[in-house]
Amino acid sequence: MVNNLSPKTASPPPPRHIAIIMDGNGRWAKARGLPRVAGHQRGADAVRGVVEACQDLGISYLTLYAFSSENWKRPPAEVDDLMGLLRVYLRRELRELHRSGVRVRFIGNWSVLAKDIVDLIEDAERTTRHNTGLTLIIAVNYGSHNEILGAVRRIAEQVGTGRLKVEDIDDAVFAHHLNTDGIPDPDLIVRTSGEKRLSNFLLWQAAYAELLFTDLLWPDFNRQSLEEVVDEFHRRDRRYGATSG
Ligand code: FPP
Repeated sequence: MVNNLSPKTASPPPPRHIAIIMDGNGRWAKARGLPRVAGHQRGADAVRGVVEACQDLGISYLTLYAFSSENWKRPPAEVDDLMGLLRVYLRRELRELHRSGVRVRFIGNWSVLAKDIVDLIEDAERTTRHNTGLTLIIAVNYGSHNEILGAVRRIAEQVGTGRLKVEDIDDAVFAHHLNTDGIPDPDLIVRTSGEKRLSNFLLWQAAYAELLFTDLLWPDFNRQSLEEVVDEFHRRDRRYGATSG
């Protein structure tokens, strides 16, 4: 009997780790005559959709830049709005994230945030730590320079006390002292809103990442946008310093 099932064309594996600089919430709101907070609210809605889409596409790690160490320079009311949205997100979404097997991790100096947010962060990490689905990494009060300086200080301390030899400091030792210890480097870093900068985001980890800049504003970024960036990633030729085959 003729087997009329056509052979499946193997689709390339998705990037293992996508990191996103979610930019353009303010412009999205301004274009509609709305207050900036409305853009951030729609940005938080977009987060929900993209987390789901990553799970469906089989992406293992998603890092989101929610609040940078430089974002404290914004007006206090906007900082409060952003913290409020993080609070609401964690309160509302933790149960569903846990149910669907998402492991939640935070990077950045989040320990200085309001006590109730610190509690929510610790609860989210503790509750989901054994989950094996998507790892969702939320960068809060994160900046690469702080992260790298922290690593340098801890390594220097260990050298000072004789626990580590200078000649033993290599990539792996250094990466172990970063906030992202145990997380593979991003394969793809996406920034929305047309800006073409990394803005102190994952500078060490970005060494071999593909960088993709889209004009879409973050609140407009959806499942289809994610599929498009994954398609573009597949068109890139990653050589890690070698020549192409
Ligand atoms: C940049 O837009 C966006 C931010 C500084 C914050 C991102 C936060 C969220 C999407 C909501 C909360 C996050 C989670 C994880 C629930 P912008 O304000 O710089 O936009 P603009 O450049 O157009 O002014």
